Amino acid sequence: MNAPSPALSAHDELHAEIVNTFDTTAMATETTLLNPRFYTTDFEEMDKVDVTPVRKEWDALLAQMKSDPNKGHFKKNADWDKVDWDGMDPALRSEFIDFLVSSCTAEFSGCVLYKEMKRRGSNPDICELFNYMARDEARHAGFINDALREAGVAVNLGFLTKAKKYTYFRPKFIYYATYLSEKIGYARYITIFRHLEKNPEHRFHPIFKWFREWCNDEFSHGEAFALLMRTDPKLTQSWQNKLWIRFFLTAVYSTMWVRDHARKDFHNALGVDIDWYDQEVFRKTSIIARQVFPIELDIDHPRWIPNLRRMNDGMLEMERGQKAGGLSGWLRHKAGSVRAMLAFANLFLIPVKHQTPPANVRLEPAF
Ligand SMILES: [Fe+2]
Ligand SMILES: [Fe+2]
Repeated sequence: MNAPSPALSAHDELHAEIVNTFDTTAMATETTLLNPRFYTTDFEEMDKVDVTPVRKEWDALLAQMKSDPNKGHFKKNADWDKVDWDGMDPALRSEFIDFLVSSCTAEFSGCVLYKEMKRRGSNPDICELFNYMARDEARHAGFINDALREAGVAVNLGFLTKAKKYTYFRPKFIYYATYLSEKIGYARYITIFRHLEKNPEHRFHPIFKWFREWCNDEFSHGEAFALLMRTDPKLTQSWQNKLWIRFFLTAVYSTMWVRDHARKDFHNALGVDIDWYDQEVFRKTSIIARQVFPIELDIDHPRWIPNLRRMNDGMLEMERGQKAGGLSGWLRHKAGSVRAMLAFANLFLIPVKHQTPPANVRLEPAF
């Protein structure tokens, strides 16, 4: 995945670009437990949502989205310093590209889902919201892809739409999963941004300078899903749904932990301790999620971190088994998956904290 050297002819460069695009797209097309997924849902059911119970907050949020505060933000300007991709340590380079590809895929997966909702819907409130959100995610994905292109790689987004497998989720699961991923997205971007504000010597790529305004988009998207969940109290209050929320919180947090711990060099370069960073992102997300979720995971519980580590070890064992192949590889893979599942069950069973979400759901980004 090296950038074409100046010595290559124009034809070779073009060929290298095609090969690189192919590899990176293959990376993004792969569906594993950890890679960002593409979702589809019951668009008709979602189109029937009546936002009357939250009308006042809804109109205020949509007016803010319509004003498009980040319209001119996702463009390279003088702050975009030259990136020395060739001089970058190869391990860092590979992990950073992996980070960018996975972020780009996640952004684009939001774009595809939101655009489809807009296209299929007839409810003006819903269509307007999804139109603005698709607009934002397309910009985010495009901006990351621009950064990747400088490294001689790019994700072929058009191809991805066709080739990637889609996971069907009922609308309520879309709410839980997407609400969480938007708020986590906010927490991740702002935590990195604040850290680099204090430690600018670790800012090894200019894209991090764009994270503050960027994360405000994600924050608003999360607000929209919080409002959608508030239109129907059952979604967050029935005991079954509380269990689902608990499941999604555990799944989303633990997946993030495993994914981040696979990128040691990337976090080293940022000067970030991964355990600290993940706990910090969970903490911010949990504080925000009090706006709508009646339960919160106890991330300071003595079983929390040990089981996250166990789950990570199990997943690594699965990967090693898969690579080894054969019967012993298969057994290793199975043993790893049992280990990871047990750790997940252990995390899920940690007693949760209960709370009553406030009457007014709306929040402003405060971190
Ligand atoms: Fe985004
Ligand atoms: Fe978003």
